[in-house]
Amino acid sequence: MSSPKCAQKAPYPIEVEAGKSYWWCACGESKKQPFCDGSHKGTAFVPTEYKAEKTGQVWFCGCKAAVSAPLCDGTHKTL
Ligand code: FES
Ligand code: FES
Repeated sequence: MSSPKCAQKAPYPIEVEAGKSYWWCACGESKKQPFCDGSHKGTAFVPTEYKAEKTGQVWFCGCKAAVSAPLCDGTHKTL
């Protein structure tokens, strides 16, 4: 499987709402980062669901290399 494209070497801070689902772009091709816009079609990637447990800010991975994706875990610092 090919590697995802790095959208940016930093996370995206996003306000999420408890109980809502968010679809994180795993391929890096979306124009609506950090979320999927359907651009993964034709690749081996599919978006990853993130279900918010509480309302507040979370940091979605922008480099697409986080081990704990879809959230940033600091892996971008090693790229
Ligand atoms: Fe990247 Fe859908 S556009 S996973
Ligand atoms: Fe990908 Fe931080 S932005 S691990």
